[in-house]
Formats: sequence, C-alpha cells, structure tokens
Amino acid sequence: MNPAPEPTVTDLASHCRTLSRRTLADLIAADPERFTRLSFAWDDWLVDLSKERLGTDTLPLLIAHAEAAGLPGWIAALFAGEKVNLSERRPALHTALRQQGDAPLVVDGRDVIPDIRTAQARMKTLAAQIRGGLRVGASGRPIRSVVNLGIGGSDLGPLLVCSALAPPPGARRRFGPHTSGVDVSFVANVDPEALWRALEPLEPATTLFIVTSKSFTTQETLANAASAKAWLAASLGASANVNAHFLAVTGNSAPAQAFGVAMPDIFPLWDWVGGRYSLWSPVGLPIAFKLGWDRFADLLAGAASVDTHFRTTPLERNLPVLLGLAGWWNAVYLRHPERVVIPYSQALFRLPAYLQQLVLESNGKHVARDGAALQGPTTASLWGECGTNSQHAFFQWLHQGTREAPVEFIVAVRAAHPRGNHQTLLIANAFAQAQALLVGRSADTVRAELAGTGLDAATLDAAVAVRMCPGNRASTMIMMPEVNAYRLGQLIALYEHRTFVEGVLFGINSFDQFGVDLGKTLAGPIVSALEGSAALGDDTDASTRGLVAHARALAANSR
Ligand code: F6P
Repeated sequence: MNPAPEPTVTDLASHCRTLSRRTLADLIAADPERFTRLSFAWDDWLVDLSKERLGTDTLPLLIAHAEAAGLPGWIAALFAGEKVNLSERRPALHTALRQQGDAPLVVDGRDVIPDIRTAQARMKTLAAQIRGGLRVGASGRPIRSVVNLGIGGSDLGPLLVCSALAPPPGARRRFGPHTSGVDVSFVANVDPEALWRALEPLEPATTLFIVTSKSFTTQETLANAASAKAWLAASLGASANVNAHFLAVTGNSAPAQAFGVAMPDIFPLWDWVGGRYSLWSPVGLPIAFKLGWDRFADLLAGAASVDTHFRTTPLERNLPVLLGLAGWWNAVYLRHPERVVIPYSQALFRLPAYLQQLVLESNGKHVARDGAALQGPTTASLWGECGTNSQHAFFQWLHQGTREAPVEFIVAVRAAHPRGNHQTLLIANAFAQAQALLVGRSADTVRAELAGTGLDAATLDAAVAVRMCPGNRASTMIMMPEVNAYRLGQLIALYEHRTFVEGVLFGINSFDQFGVDLGKTLAGPIVSALEGSAALGDDTDASTRGLVAHARALAANSR
C-alpha cells in the first residue's frame, strides 16, 4: 500500500485545461462511438458516463493515475482484512459480512467467518420467532411492533432498505398478519417528537425495542432507550420485566447489559465494521424482522456479487472504479464542490440521506492518511431527492443556476408495482432531464420561438435571456433492472466501493470520522448549562453563552 504517488498529475491538469475549452455537446458530436465507449454494462446494470466531461483520453489517464495511486493494492487490502483504517488500526471488513461461502478470513489471528455465521443463525432464528408471533413481551403477548433506536449508521442503512422494500403501513392488514412481518419503525433523533410519533400508535405490551449502537455511548440513542423503558414501565407496571422488550446490537456489551438487556438478546457488532457500513451485520435485524431472513440473504448476495465484480474486474470495466474516477475527476480537477443524486424510484427516497452519511462521513476529510495537508479538495458535498418530485423543486437551479453541479440519475427500469404507463413516464423524465442539462436551450432557439410575438427589442432580449438554458452540464446515468433486495444490495455495495475508490484517490482514510466527536464533547457542558446545574466555563465564547441564556429565558417563559 503506497502513499499515492502522482506521476500523472501534470498530464491530468493539462488534459483538464484542454478539455475545459470544449462543450459536452462538442465532445458528443465529435465522437459517434462515445456512448459505446463510455457506457458500461454489467449484470443488467448500465453506468453511462457519456454525459460526463470526459474526453477520449480522460479515462485512460484516470486509470493510469488510479494504478499509480495503488488502487489495485488497496482493493486487495480491503478484502484481505488488512488495517486499511490506519488511524484506528482496524480493517474495514463489511465485505466479510456478505461473503458467500465459508472461506476463512483471518483478522488478528482469528477467522471471523464462523463468528459471522453464528450471529446470522441467531438473527435468522429470532426473525422467524418474531414474524411468527413466538417472541412474547413481559405480559406474555406476542411482539407485533419493533422500534429501532439508533442513529447514523445504526439507523440509515436499515431504514433505507426497509423503506425501499417493505409494503406500506396497512398492507399487513389487507394481506394477512405475517405478509410483511412485524411493523418496524425507526427513531434516531433525540428530539422528543421523534419518539412520540413512533410510540403514539403502538401498544407497549406488544412492542420490542432494538437499541442499536456500536459504541453504546451515543447520547441520542441512550436517551431514547431510557425513555422507551420509562414508557414501557408506565404502561406495564413497575414490577413488569420490561427488559424482555429490549434487544441490543453493539460492540460494547457491558453497558448494554447494565442497561438491562439479557446477554442472549445482545447481538455483536465487530470493531472491524464501520457504523456506516454495518447494515449487513446484526444492525440489519430490522430488515430481517420486516422482510424475513430470505430477503435479507438476497440483499447480502446482491452486495457480494458487486464485491466479486469490484475485486476481480479490470479497472477499465469495473463499475465502482469508473464511478469513483468520474467523481474524483469532477471534484478535484473540474472543481465541482457539489454532487446531486436523484433516484428516479420512489422506493429509493431515503437513498440521498443514506449516501450523505456514507460519502461525507467517509470522505469529508482535510488531511491525508499520514496527517499531511492535502493540496486539493476532497469529496464534493452531496444532496438529492427523488425524481420526478425534484424536477418541480430544485431542477430550476440545476438548469439555470449560476454554477454546475454534476447529477447522478439512478433509474430502475422495471416497476415493482406497475400501473399503466407510469414507469415509461418516469424513465422518460430521467432521460429528458439529463438531456436538458446537456443540450440546454439556446438563445437562438428561444428567439425563433418568440418571433412574431410583437415584443419590442429590449423586451425580446430579456424574454430570451430568462428562457434560455445554458446546458453543457454533466451527469451520469445509472440504470438498474429493478428495485428488489438483491438489486438494492448491489446498489448499496456499488456506492460503498465507489466511495472507497474516491478515498484512495484523495489519499485519505475513508473509515474514521473524528470530525463528529468535537460537537459531541462540547454538548456535555451545554446540557448542564441549559439545565442550570453548572455554568459554562469562563473560556466559552460569547456567542454560545448568548444562545444558552436566550434558550433558558424562553424555556422559563413557556406557555
Ligand atoms: O455521528 C457519528 C457516528 O459515530 C457514526 O459514525 C455512527 O454511525 C453513529 O455516530 C452512531 O454511532 P453508534 O452506533 O456508536 O451509536
């Protein structure tokens, strides 16, 4: 694993300068083979980079750079369980969690695969019990509702999968009690509104909580778990065994036991799995409860198929590598500070939030792996929303705003629940938006359309200016066959590996997240100050003091 040497940087910089003088429309017109050359098919997926700002020579140069940066070695190291998380001296072995087959994988002298199989067997058994109404609460009634209490990686992954694949609320009643397993909901925020909204429709006697926290120290999760316990006790009585209503998923079982969770109800989360890469572990219990073990296994199998593709396919045809190269090129050379992800799939409406943690917590870093300052930017920020909804919201900014933000369109070709020609309309809109970003609408076209409207010259000029779209804005089209458990596993793994590829090219460690700790530490004294139990230290800035004083005054005056 070399630090990234950069023998091709000069070539890339001068190539970028040359390319910047050409429009995307030019590049496309000049090369009839462009779509064939820049769209990459694999297992009924298509990644089309032909609308990205890539010239004929760009990908070969980027691939040469990736090789010089040691990408193949880093990929091998990731899968081999080497300590790619250098700052915390740990492997990042989310791929082991979906490994198909029992080939040994040794971490610190121990084969981790048998541990994973044991945990999976426990998950499978418990999922069957809960879905079959065999797990009972303190009063002997079967569990019918499960609430996951967790935040960040202990929330977003299972939330994405459940919201993408589970039938909507009410479907269970229509199709029979076990069609969709139990009801599963998620509470992440410490805002009491979140817990209130989740608990209000539930019956304490039939509700089970999963306290999901790798560290079992996360303030939000522990506060929600304590309040959940109080909610159960208030309804079931102080003498009821409310601990029967809790499971824990954690890498720190002592505080989970101290909280009251029985050891057989604690599921492991190994330190070689990062929180944002953990949905494949027992963190995925809500998925197994909601969808059943077989579909959880499909999710794992889909991800494993991408792992094999990523590990074994030459860089030139390797989808996560190609996506990562395009993302790195956009961020570092074309200097786009933003990237926008638009799933044209209602099922994937949670994907942008999931990707924000995956990408920004992984690659939002300012120093290299060895702590040296980086010369250029790291990851672009990421945001997005479903298509077609977003067309009627922020696409105006994408088409006519003053700066370009490359867009990733994700289109599922087949509908899970077809209706009339809806899917055709959906796909056509995705293609049309990408085309509109590319070609724009020229001033001449608008002027011709307005000819004969009798506008005076000044009014006509203004009318043309507000209507024309500059175009020449880049996008990637990712087409997947459909959204089911297997394909969703593939999609998530594709983005995980692409994020890793970008991290390697940035020269950073994608698997730590020290930036989130500072705010957590600073919150402690502020809690005490807000509660009036301790004043803020003398060294606290005047702005924060002012906010605390204002909040205290408002709370005291509450109506
Ligand atoms: O917010 C930072 C973070 O550490 C994430 O990386 C993590 O997914 C989340 O908090 C939750 O952490 P835990 O699972 O330890 O409660």
